[in-house]
Amino acid sequence: MKITIIGTGYVGLVSGACFADFGNNVLCLDVNARKVEMLKDGRIPIHEPGLDELVRRNAAAGRLSFTTSYDDAVEHAEVIFLAVGTPPDEDGSADLTHILAAARSIGERLTRPVVVVDKSTVPVGTADSVRKAISDELDRRGADISFAVVSNPEFLKEGAAIEDFMRPDRIVVGSDDEQATKLMRQLYAPFSRNHDKMIEMDVRSAELTKYAANAMLATRISFMNELANLAEVLDADIEAVRLGIGSDPRIGPHFLYSGMGYGGSCFPKDVKALLKTSKDHGCTLHLLSAIETVNETQKGVLFEKIVRHFGGRDELAGKTIALWGLSFKPNTDDMREAPSLVLIRQLLQAGCRVQAYDPVAHAEARRILESSSPESLSSGQLAIVASSTEAIDNADALVLVTEWKEFRAPDFGLLAKTLRSKAIFDGRNQYDPAIVREAGLRYYGIGRRNPW
Ligand code: NAD
Ligand code: UGA
Repeated sequence: MKITIIGTGYVGLVSGACFADFGNNVLCLDVNARKVEMLKDGRIPIHEPGLDELVRRNAAAGRLSFTTSYDDAVEHAEVIFLAVGTPPDEDGSADLTHILAAARSIGERLTRPVVVVDKSTVPVGTADSVRKAISDELDRRGADISFAVVSNPEFLKEGAAIEDFMRPDRIVVGSDDEQATKLMRQLYAPFSRNHDKMIEMDVRSAELTKYAANAMLATRISFMNELANLAEVLDADIEAVRLGIGSDPRIGPHFLYSGMGYGGSCFPKDVKALLKTSKDHGCTLHLLSAIETVNETQKGVLFEKIVRHFGGRDELAGKTIALWGLSFKPNTDDMREAPSLVLIRQLLQAGCRVQAYDPVAHAEARRILESSSPESLSSGQLAIVASSTEAIDNADALVLVTEWKEFRAPDFGLLAKTLRSKAIFDGRNQYDPAIVREAGLRYYGIGRRNPW
């Protein structure tokens, strides 16, 4: 099938490469010319395990190519996917500027029937707006061309995007057009060979399904974070509680890990957008509102522990804190809404020196911090260093922020010798408190039993 993908970011590039891998002929378009040039040169603008190889292989086979030309992109396709960003607007709603701009660009050029697929996460009713934007352009040109707009939200996770896309739990397709549904079935048939993964529904329900999924996952995380704070004051251990409840198949083990609050480009923005939608329709989601508040509070929990450990905020000035991990989760260089950024800001404001290390996200972190904290970087109060060992050099304490594999089994003996105040703050509950204590270190986790 001839497919065009508009927007070549995390979702667009992964979808394009995966569709091409199943033998489709895919043209990916982006308005960011630098990104397109990189991709044409075989360089991948993001870190996503396995993506380099997948893109190169399919580009070499002539099934995957890149362009900035809307003329070529619209001319190419039987199916056009919209995978542009839908960032939060100032009032929390999803900003549809990019989606509607892409829709108009299609309408300006369409010469034959096409199926337009909303893959971006968009509020209920967006397919109607996309349809109208395309129709308005066709009317303006006096062109009478049939097209359908379907909703096909994406559920992949960064860091496991290819696996998630290639072996999806489900493929949600919202469509009011029989022919378009048939085409989507055909396109996705190779992804659901052993059993049918496609769930068909109306367009609006598909749009809401995407927000419902992310809101449900965010709910589980905030629930566990709140419970972790209670476990701590009750001298219980949230990790034991997690295992105890997760083994109930009605609850399940996933997304029950307490930590420093959820980050990333999706949960925070999608929770906000759903809240805004609900308010706009006079049907406020009180539970969701609490989930967001809990998450905001949770991002500050580790800083409070650091303050208490050092005997008060005033005692923090001049202390050196090592940070392991900067990206919002492992296996990605994505820094959007990363909890590390909140902690860094708090530590810098308290007068700490911060030595941060991330295996992959260092360049992206530097780019962001250069605009948010330029003085801290230039004065050396904040340093992004090249190794986990360099981060702990001359440090008073260590904070584990992102659970990259290389941080899982550190040399606690070395840490005990190196860290002046002999303390580890484990923002992801990765370490066994007893083992850390045996090494002569103080352990602070999230909702863990106090081992001393
Ligand atoms: P992204 O920011 O990585 O990529 C979006 C791309 O769209 C950018 O490269 C940008 O230059 C391009 N773009 C913007 N306007 C354009 C236009 N008019 N024409 C062509 N290209 C244009 O975004 P992303 O993370 O891939 O997310 C895309 C959408 O998918 C969002 O709605 C997001 O919520 C949703 N989503 C993301 C993920 C994820 O893990 N990142 C997972 C599921 C769903
Ligand atoms: C999330 C969803 O998992 C995807 O299904 C969805 O497609 C995507 O959002 C999206 O809509 O963009 P992603 O943001 O890539 O994917 O990453 P997650 O693994 O879900 O993690 C999100 C955040 O929650 C991270 O900060 C992570 O550390 C945190 N988290 C996750 C927890 O704190 N506890 C958990 O148990 C799980």
